This record gives sequence, structure tokens and C-alpha cells, in this order.
Amino acid sequence: MTDQYAVFGNPINHSKSPTIHRQFAEQSGQNLHYAKQLVAVDEFVKCAQDFFAQGGKGLNVTVPFKIDAFSFAQQLTQRAQRAGAVNTLAMQNDGVILGDNTDGIGMVHDMHNLDWELEGKRILILGAGGAVRGILQPLLAEHPELVVIANRTFSKAEELAAHFHDLGDVRAKTFEQLHGDKFDIVINGTSASLSNDLPPLPDNVLNQTACCYDLMYGSEPTVFMKWAQQHGAAKIADGLGMLVGQAAEAFYVWRHIRPEVVPVITMLRRQLAEKK
Ligand code: ATR
Repeated sequence: MTDQYAVFGNPINHSKSPTIHRQFAEQSGQNLHYAKQLVAVDEFVKCAQDFFAQGGKGLNVTVPFKIDAFSFAQQLTQRAQRAGAVNTLAMQNDGVILGDNTDGIGMVHDMHNLDWELEGKRILILGAGGAVRGILQPLLAEHPELVVIANRTFSKAEELAAHFHDLGDVRAKTFEQLHGDKFDIVINGTSASLSNDLPPLPDNVLNQTACCYDLMYGSEPTVFMKWAQQHGAAKIADGLGMLVGQAAEAFYVWRHIRPEVVPVITMLRRQLAEKK
């Protein structure tokens, strides 16, 4: 039987995961089937159990099920444990279902592809929700000089900084406390872009060679990307490469093959442009 994979989410209609994984499979000559499945909000466990009971090999999990998937996994990678969320489930040879989180490493790999140096850099992260929690461990593993988490609700930034403090110099700040600070990399991990909003950033936080990254992507630059442009960022990227990067790492977890991400990013970018 062809190996079965799927992505579970709600909503799921616009998921690009099937397109991405089919490209990876084609590229690497892997025989697999990848579907998308709309799962009712209270039916994640039942659907995941059924999927694996029917011989399914692996799942990707997206909004709103990453925490359900975390509980569902029978074994967790260290990065999933730190993230408190799972986006990849894999049936292992011993029958144990492994939960991993490939979001953060997907972003880090994308930054490497973009030739952005992380080691020794001063990094500012905007936001302290699930998305940010997912990227912190892989980011800190790159040995930045400093990571500052700034969030509207300061207590959430403080909690995250405390949770990751053993992995590097991570500090929490309010947006007001950023006045006078300068950063080499600024990552927007808030969901503000979704509502065309921007966190209240001081004007002068970017170093001359600063790189700005939005975890979101779309057919148009996000509000944060426009802000970065206006404030002299040297390099600006959205999260499309991260989307493909997290998929590539999931593919690696399942198939032990690292697919080529660049042609897939190029294809998706073209599709987005056509939609405009
Ligand atoms: P996700 O899973 O996308 O991370 P989340 O866990 O709900 O979603 O987190 C959303 C993040 O975006 C939070 O850090 C939130 O700030 P609060 O913790 O203060 O709520 C941030 N956010 C959302 N809209 C924002 C806005 N308009 N301005 C600033 N921060 C915003």
C-alpha cells in the first residue's frame, strides 16, 4: 500500500501542505499519498486514532490542533517538548507515535537559505504566543548574543523568557522598554498582521544592516514588512520560506530525506503573485 500522510486542521481548505509534500515526493522519487482533512474542533483525537489505526504513516497538524497533537503524541522530541506544541506526528517502526515541532527549525533553515547570520546577533521577537514559543529553541541553538521578547501582555513575554532562559540570554520587555535598543534581526511573531495591525515599535530599533522577518506571509507584504522597509531594514522576508521549511523538516522526520526547498518556494511565490 502507498504510504499515507495528511494534514489535519480547521479550516483546512487553503492549506498548501499537500502541494508542498507532493512536490517533495516527486522531487525525491518517493511513493506517497498526502491528503488534507477538515477535522471538527472536538474530534482531533478520534480522527488521529483512526488515521493511524488505518495504517497512516504521518500527520501534519495545524491550527487549532497543535496542542491536542502534543497531548496525543506518545513520545516527544526535545524541541516539541520545549514548544509545548506538535505540528508533525510520525508512526515509528516500533509502533510508537512521535510528536515533533518543525516550525522553528523551518524558520532557522529559511534564514540560512537567505544568508542571514544568527550567531552573535541581537534578535528582537515581537509577540509571545504559540508561534513564538515554537521558534525559540531552534533560534537559541544558533547562539545569538541576545534574544529580547517584546509583547503587549508583558507577563507572557516574561513567562517565555523564564521558560527558555537556560538555553541562552533571553529577556522580556514591553514595547516602551525598547526605546534606545538596537537589533540586527527583528522577527514579527504576533498575529497583528492578520488584522493589518502593527505592534507599537519605536522608530530606531533597527541596526544599519538589520534583517526583518514576518512569520506570516501573503500575496502582499505585511504591515510589518512595510514598516521594515520604511525604517531602513537591509533585508526583509515573509514566512513563506518557513512554511516550506517546516514541511521539509517534517518530510525528513518521515522519510529521512531532505528535499529541495527553493524550487517549491519559487512555485508558491508564483502562485501567490498570480492570485493578486
Ligand atoms: P499564535 O499561535 O499565532 O502565536 P497567539 O498564541 O494567540 O497566536 O498569540 C498572538 C500574539 O500576537 C500574542 O503575543 C499577542 O499579544 P498579547 O499576548 O498581548 O495578546 C500578539 N498580538 C496580537 N494582536 C496584536 C496587536 N494588534 N498588537 C500587538 N500584539 C498583538
